Amino acid sequence: MNYIEEQIISIGKIRIENHLADIGIDAVKEEIIKGLCAPEKYISSKFFYDEKGSRLFEQITQLDEYYPTRTEKSILSTFIKNANINFQNLSIIELGSGDSSKIKLLLKQIPVELLKSIRYFPVDISQSAILKSSEELIKEFDLESITGIVADFVHQFSVLPKAGKRLFCFFGSTIGNFTKKEQNRFITELGNEMQTGDAFLLGMDMVKDITVLENAYNDIKGVTAAFNKNILNVINLLCNANFNVDDFEHIAFYNQAENRIEMHLKALKEMDISLNSGLDTLHFIKGEKIHTENSHKFTDKDVEIIGEYGNFHLKNVFTDKNKWFKLVYFEKK
Ligand code: AVJ
Repeated sequence: MNYIEEQIISIGKIRIENHLADIGIDAVKEEIIKGLCAPEKYISSKFFYDEKGSRLFEQITQLDEYYPTRTEKSILSTFIKNANINFQNLSIIELGSGDSSKIKLLLKQIPVELLKSIRYFPVDISQSAILKSSEELIKEFDLESITGIVADFVHQFSVLPKAGKRLFCFFGSTIGNFTKKEQNRFITELGNEMQTGDAFLLGMDMVKDITVLENAYNDIKGVTAAFNKNILNVINLLCNANFNVDDFEHIAFYNQAENRIEMHLKALKEMDISLNSGLDTLHFIKGEKIHTENSHKFTDKDVEIIGEYGNFHLKNVFTDKNKWFKLVYFEKK
């Protein structure tokens, strides 16, 4: 997560633009400190994804307990034949692209002649993830081009490509990380950005048995715990802080009233944390928690509501045999 220097990387058909510097490190620090000084401390879940965090998340997706990625991929790898999408000269914009393993499953189903006319735009906060996945993708697929966009796309909507017919993809149920208000804002803004004929493919993790949900965020191997705690290392770097990850415990549970998994880090002892190299201090009492993530689970009603926020036609819903995950295809009205 480089918020300091502006960067453009160009390698053959790959181009990567880093827009994080436009936000600036001071605004990022301010955002983090605001959350840590709130009566109920929180850190935005976007700060999970430094290089190590992105790697830990990839490990999570391989866990027996973590069903979402596997389930979404099973849907993604066959849905095209029933989707009726025109891929000629399409710009595919993947928000929160991560390791791009999902777009591969989609691209595999497209005839080679059409692939040549497609421009792919992975958008992610992690430059390392974009670089690695773009290099892999261009080896495997003869696309017209890949333009990686390193940005906080929630706040940097203007960096998204404008040209041509666009298919926006937002996989992984990452939308579940947003509060209901943020979901409304984000989808409304996306809907305003889209032109008639543009499309939106959205992955949504559905409400299901609580045990299945809680196990997915409390794996036996402790990978999710390591992923959760790593956010403190990211904060240490960005805010010159001195959190010790061993002083915190990983907590994840299902909040039934809000239909969401919540992750927290619980202080194992009373302590003072130094911020800004000692200019500020932050007090924790024993047992105090930092809220690090919401992962909302959705109902069919929520699918409809999202369509209304964006002013979309709900064209198709693809799902698995258990109806655990839904891939929803919307077109802009
Ligand atoms: C990448 C946001 C979809 O919420 O399930 C996995 C992140 N957090 N385990 C999710 C996550 C803990 C994941 N998303």
